[in-house]
Amino acid sequence: MSIIVSQDGKKFALKSKGATYLMSVNNIGVLENNYYGAPVSCDEFNNLNYAVGRGSSADMPGATRRGDCAEQYRHECGLYGIGDYREPSICINTQNGSRILDLRYDSYQIGAEKRDGGMPRVRGGETLKITLKDEFNGVKVHLYYTVYDDIDAIVRSAEIENATDGQITIERAYSFCLDMFNRDYEVISLNGSWANERNISQNKIVEGVYTVSSKYGISSAQHNPFVALVEKNTDENIGDAYGFNLIYSGSHELKVELNPYGIVRVTGGISSFDFSWLLNAGESFVTAESVLVYSSEGLGKMSRTFHDLYREHLIEKKFAYSPRPIVINNWEATYFNFTEEKLCAMIEKVKGTGIDTFVLDDGWFGVRNDDRRSLGDWFINKPKLPNGLKPIAECCKRNGLKFGLWFEPEMVNPDSDLYRAHPEWVIMEKGRPHCHGRYQCVLDMTQKPVRDYIIERMCSIIRENDIEYVKWDMNRPLTENFSSALPANRQKELHHRFTLAFYEVLSHLRKTFPDLIIEGCSSGGARFDAGALAYTPQIWTSDNSDAYSRTKIQYGTSICYPLSSMSCHVSASPNHQVGRVTDFKARCDIAYFGATGYELDPTKFTKDEIKAVKERNKAYRKDEKLIQAGDLYRLASPFDSNVFAQVVVSKDKKSAVMVAMVAQSQPNPNP
Ligand code: DGJ
Repeated sequence: MSIIVSQDGKKFALKSKGATYLMSVNNIGVLENNYYGAPVSCDEFNNLNYAVGRGSSADMPGATRRGDCAEQYRHECGLYGIGDYREPSICINTQNGSRILDLRYDSYQIGAEKRDGGMPRVRGGETLKITLKDEFNGVKVHLYYTVYDDIDAIVRSAEIENATDGQITIERAYSFCLDMFNRDYEVISLNGSWANERNISQNKIVEGVYTVSSKYGISSAQHNPFVALVEKNTDENIGDAYGFNLIYSGSHELKVELNPYGIVRVTGGISSFDFSWLLNAGESFVTAESVLVYSSEGLGKMSRTFHDLYREHLIEKKFAYSPRPIVINNWEATYFNFTEEKLCAMIEKVKGTGIDTFVLDDGWFGVRNDDRRSLGDWFINKPKLPNGLKPIAECCKRNGLKFGLWFEPEMVNPDSDLYRAHPEWVIMEKGRPHCHGRYQCVLDMTQKPVRDYIIERMCSIIRENDIEYVKWDMNRPLTENFSSALPANRQKELHHRFTLAFYEVLSHLRKTFPDLIIEGCSSGGARFDAGALAYTPQIWTSDNSDAYSRTKIQYGTSICYPLSSMSCHVSASPNHQVGRVTDFKARCDIAYFGATGYELDPTKFTKDEIKAVKERNKAYRKDEKLIQAGDLYRLASPFDSNVFAQVVVSKDKKSAVMVAMVAQSQPNPNP
């Protein structure tokens, strides 16, 4: 049993094979965390008196009002206005201007249904709902905990219910809060930039607040919505590791705060910067889901737990463990400069090699011959492809390949028919000059006509051309956050509404074309997050396709996300992003550990390369199950050595596949 509740209904234990999480209601009605870590016995649960860790400060003599010691409590929901000066997890503003939220335990329910609020939710598990209530203003917060017997993960979210008789404004709506005693923890986060995503940084936690956040409107290449707390000596195999990940693709925040009482608070969710949400009486707001993972066997086990959870319970079942397309994508082969003949020559050249999907990237629509125009005009680029996409689709069929197509649905270039017809469809403040990124603007997808237009265009093109694979790209973050469709007092809802719209359009596509596989992408890996994975089982990991750079990017990504979620392509040498020369085998090997493919001009393949591609694809099909479903062990980190090495081991431990790369040749190398 994963959820145990004491007879008095005030102590809660969440148990999985390798972790226990204990909470209880203290003597003034505050829900506190008592323990999170390696399994402890709950046999005497009814007598359990904070068996592990320190007792609750509310049990101290004289503690009658919360303010006496609220900073020493280990809250399951961080609050404002009651003497706890740490980062709150939920903030509200009532109609009379009161921001105080004093939530006390109200009730619990096992087997509760979770609402999704338009966001992805993990499947399965058993859910505990604990309701907290502010008796003074009537606001209720329902905390959800979903647990699994066999996966050491707890999925948390919250629902804020406006049970007052007036409107309230939510000013922060985080998904979880965890307060733990500091054991000299260090915090790990995944940070980067374009073509340099998910570098691993590790820092000692010091007094104050460490924030990982995105204000970009997407989860971003800069700060992935992930942090982990580890002990100083935790490595891949030993030591405690606590991982925290948001199932969310928009602006986000994760905060790690150490207070003077030695308590570390980790809390986070939808970004509260430039955010608010109006909630009418009787309405509820549902937060994003978050995942908490505990591992007593280092970072390696923590990662494997995330991988198991996402493969089993988040990524669409249909794709999680089934053969993925082996793609040839024309982007790095041709960029915008292609013709029907060129594309068909590429397709013909890979016939019989095991490459089974041709993806036509940017440039097939409007009059797009460079990146300055036509986004939004999802009609065939007739000057470039006078016969349309049909001959390419047919060429694919003739040669036994599926046909895939690139879209950048959320965008519009000012130089486009769409922009000329609907300037009000853009996120911008009328009359104010606005930033362009890659010469383009962001469509205001919070507007229904905008979503309808995107859906209509994509569905028509997909249907008319037998598209079986879509690459969904997104190449600039949001700026001038203003929607002409939202009233003044709802403008701060824009980023979250934009993210909900992203999910809505994707859900529509998933329902309309259940067999269509969608590859996520955002200038490479700027929206590589668990929210996107619910709709796009694989994501283009980075625009940097250099094999050595990829050892770091893929290693960092694997800290939280499974190998099967990473699109990894073999590209040309010298590499287009960094100019490095790498031999063909090494490029193939590094692109093997993910959803593999090619991103080069196959018409330039030598005979030997064609032979190698055939053999490699054959081997990949043999190893694919293992790569998709196996356990990943990271053996050597390219961040702190000259070697990258990892091995994937089947669950039954009967087979394994390993890759290693020495980054820089050294004179007199070790044998
Ligand atoms: C950015 C993507 O990451 C690339 O793979 C490619 O699709 C380009 N956009 C096309 O504009």
